[in-house]
This record gives sequence, structure tokens and C-alpha cells, in this order.
Amino acid sequence: MVEAVVKRFEEVYGDKEGAKVFFAPGRVNLIGEHTDYNGGHVFPCALTIGTYGVARVREDRKLRFYSMNFDHLGVIESSLDDLKPRKEAGWTNYPKGVMWAFEGRGYQLPKGLDILLYGNIPNGSGLSSSASIEVLTGYILKEFFGFEVSNQDLALIGQYSENNFNGVNCGIMDQFAIAMGKKDNAIFLDTADLSYTYAPISLKGAKLVIACSNKKRGLGDSKYNERRSECETALAELQGVVDIKSLGELSEEKFEEVKSAIKDPVRVRRAKHAVYENQRTVKAVEALKADNIALFGELMNASHVSLRDDYEVTGIELDTLVEEAWKVDGVIGSRMTGAGFGGCTVSLVKDEAIDGFVKQVGDAYLAKIGYKADFYVVEVGDGPCVLR
Ligand code: GLA
Repeated sequence: MVEAVVKRFEEVYGDKEGAKVFFAPGRVNLIGEHTDYNGGHVFPCALTIGTYGVARVREDRKLRFYSMNFDHLGVIESSLDDLKPRKEAGWTNYPKGVMWAFEGRGYQLPKGLDILLYGNIPNGSGLSSSASIEVLTGYILKEFFGFEVSNQDLALIGQYSENNFNGVNCGIMDQFAIAMGKKDNAIFLDTADLSYTYAPISLKGAKLVIACSNKKRGLGDSKYNERRSECETALAELQGVVDIKSLGELSEEKFEEVKSAIKDPVRVRRAKHAVYENQRTVKAVEALKADNIALFGELMNASHVSLRDDYEVTGIELDTLVEEAWKVDGVIGSRMTGAGFGGCTVSLVKDEAIDGFVKQVGDAYLAKIGYKADFYVVEVGDGPCVLR
């Protein structure tokens, strides 16, 4: 891969003088969905698939971008003097947003860059290709210009740029999982205070299989923001009767005791998901530590049911993938992952059952939905790095 991206950089920009090669992973969340903006826990991990970047510093203030995933767009030019949030869509808003966020934090970018990217995360799959580009960009800037920022800062800068430059109100999970990724470990992160621990993922005879629905997210971003505000309203209502800063502070019992303060039945279900999902995540990590993979799988399944029935962010495509997965012998657990409304599911599947899983779930999905799903057996990888 390194050879291929360097060769393309040379073709696109004429030579490779001064260029370095970088990588930032994608991520998958194992459990703890829609909890990161509710002060709850998440349990994601970085993957060995992600975004490759070749970059070099220029002598002027020009910025040149090229993506091998969008060859038809050619070289896209901009300038450090022209970094401001704009309405028009386009992938360069992700690296530009990060540059803008660095400057906003007082890290002046002294010179422009030539950048070429190639991502092997399936397109629009909900495995955080945008957060991967954000963290990669921050890492490139840090490496070339010597900014003293930690990987955790790179996550926060990435999230800030996505919220304020790109207008997507995401939580911290994706950027954190990518910036702080560690091979063969998932990250148990408390989004209330960003404290975290690594938990080894030793699946003993099983693997993580991602099924990509190939359903484009469409309305996803507006629905995402809608769920956020439903939770905020529910929290405000609960704050009338209980002293909490976020839904993540409530146990299941306490929630049941105070939930009548929420004046709308739909909002009760939204808040219930946030509270119960947070507690499930804590239990799932305990189960993993106790080597109880079966319980971990059951909690994954319960997470999906809650996202389907109470939070309502699944849809027929994700439900079909998960419900068909549950029927397969050797599936330990299966659920949607990421924001929902399309994107991917993650399943824990015993090694000997993987081929049958792909066939059985794939055939059922095609028959019901009318187009194919794609399957990836993935590995848990490290955070961003310089490859050359
Ligand atoms: C998206 C967001 C994350 C998180 C998930 C849902 O991936 O970017 O911050 O909220 O959805 O868990």
C-alpha cells in the first residue's frame, strides 16, 4: 500500500521530494451507542483498515488535496488564507476544518501542504472515514510543524472541527477511538470526563465481522441531531427532580424512579436507551474481563434491541442484517454500530462459522432488501503513525 500511494503522489504532484507517508485507522464501536453525548461510556476500537496519507510541506501558503477514492475530482486547490466554514459539501472540508481548528487554537500553520489520501474503509459505511481523515490531518500537522499536541488533543481538535466547521454535532467517540487506538485492545472511555482504560480483546476462537448494509445514510445527520436534542430535553426535565449533569449518571433503578418527570413517551424511550445502554456497556466490559464472551454477546444483542425499539435508529437494512445474524449457529452477538440509519453491523462470530455466516446473512439480505451487503473480517489495530 505504501508503494502504491507514494507512486500516485509522484504522478499527481510531479515528484515525491520531502514527502512522508502516514496512516490513521477507522473504528468500530463494540457497545455503548449514542451514549457519548449523554455523558456515558463507550467501548470502541481502532481497526487495521483506515486512511493512508502522503504529504509534504510547500514553500508557499497553497494547499493541494487529492483523494485516490475520488480520482475524478482531480487536484483540489485552496490556501491557508482561505480557511473558513462553508456550505458546499466536499471531502476537503475535513482536512481544511482541522487546519482551521489548529489555527483557532493558536497554532499558526507556517506553510501550505501537498496532500494525497487513500482510504480502504468501505465508503459511507459508518466506520468513521471522516474522523480518520481528521485525526490523520492533525497528525500530519503535528509531525511537520512540531506542534506540542497529544493524541487526545488530536481527537478533541478533530471533534471541534467536525462540530464547528462541518456542522455535524458528533460526540467524541470516533476521533478518540482513532487517535488513541491500541492494537488488540478496545478503549473503555467515560465520555463524562474522558478517563479511559484499555481492555484486551482476546476473542479466543472468534472474530469481529462487519457487515456493511450499503444503505446510504441520507437523513442520518439530521436524525442524529434530533436524537441529541430529544436527550437534552429529557435531561432538562429530569433535572427538575434529580441533581444530575448527564443521563450517564443515572442507574437503571434511579431512572425508573424519576422517569415520570419526562413529559413525552417518545422522550422517555430515548432517555431509557441512553441510561440502559450506558449500564450495559459497563457490564459488557466486566464480562469481557471475566472472560465471559457469551454474556458480552448477549449484551450486544440487547443493545441492538434498544437501538431498534427505544432509540429508533436502525431501519430495515440494519435490522435484517442483525436478525439474520442471530439465527446463525456460532454467532455470539450482533448489533448495529455507529450512528445507525444505514452503515454497518458488528458481529462476534466463531471462526468455524464465519463462511456460513457470510453466506446465510448475505443471501437473506439480498433476498429481502434487493441489493448486496459486504462483509469484512477485521482486526483491532493501533492509532495514527508515520509509515515512512
Ligand atoms: C456517530 C458519532 C459518535 C457517536 C455515534 C453513536 O458515530 O460521530 O460521536 O455519537 O454516532 O454512538
